[in-house]
Amino acid sequence: MEPPHEPYRPHVEVSRRRPWVVGVSGASGTPYAASVLRALLSAGEAVDLVVSRASRLTLLDETGISFRDAHWREDLGRWLARGADGTPDAFEPGVDVADVRHWAAGDLAAGPSSGSYDVKGMLIVPASTACVAGVALGLSKDLLQRSASVTLKERRPLVVAVREAPLSGQTLRHLVALDEAGAVVVPASPAFYAGATHIQDLVDFVAGRVLDAAGVPHKLYRRWEGELRGGTGDA
Ligand SMILES: Cc1cc2nc3c(=O)[nH]c(=O)nc-3n(C[C@H](O)[C@H](O)[C@H](O)COP(=O)(O)O)c2cc1C
Repeated sequence: MEPPHEPYRPHVEVSRRRPWVVGVSGASGTPYAASVLRALLSAGEAVDLVVSRASRLTLLDETGISFRDAHWREDLGRWLARGADGTPDAFEPGVDVADVRHWAAGDLAAGPSSGSYDVKGMLIVPASTACVAGVALGLSKDLLQRSASVTLKERRPLVVAVREAPLSGQTLRHLVALDEAGAVVVPASPAFYAGATHIQDLVDFVAGRVLDAAGVPHKLYRRWEGELRGGTGDA
């Protein structure tokens, strides 16, 4: 006699880690990415990091750091310790990168390439116009673009910090498409009302606006409180 069927037991995995995917594409602005990453980690957020192939050139150009998949933790540690003005250990004793998971840009079998991989959402910082186009058109040419398309189809928060000047009509149309698809477009354009005195302040302002769009608490810039300061920058 056939044994009775086992009752159906869905495989429910209890996992408490729910990261933000941070995609770094090849636009100028790797200090923006570093500031966002530091702030997410200090806020206790887990991070899944995807660094596009092109962004390794901008990172090398802007910081002198070669980002290597095989030594990503060491390279990331150096990158996050570096100030926007080039000071190598501006953030010593350093940022704890223990809760960062790195996925290679070509790994289309990585966790974030599937909607069933649980994440809070995705921040692309900085976003190149090529990346903006790829996500707007759903190209999924690499893991970064695939993760962004997955984020949109799953109706999760997607923040796109585009960096280019001037913007072509084509890019503007792609940005409208992203906005209509539910993404928040945050141009990497610092403001001067928050009392910036150093390059790091300007970088942190942009990073702070990216985190505002994602709803992550931070203290990266001084918020406007409704009073003109007459150029003193005083609080
Ligand atoms: C030093 C350097 C700076 C760049 N800056 C920008 C930029 O600010 N914005 C942009 O859209 N592309 C910029 N690019 C071009 C992109 O890297 C290029 O379009 C690349 O294909 C983007 O690929 P990705 O989106 O896969 O990272 C820059 C390239 C280099 C080498």
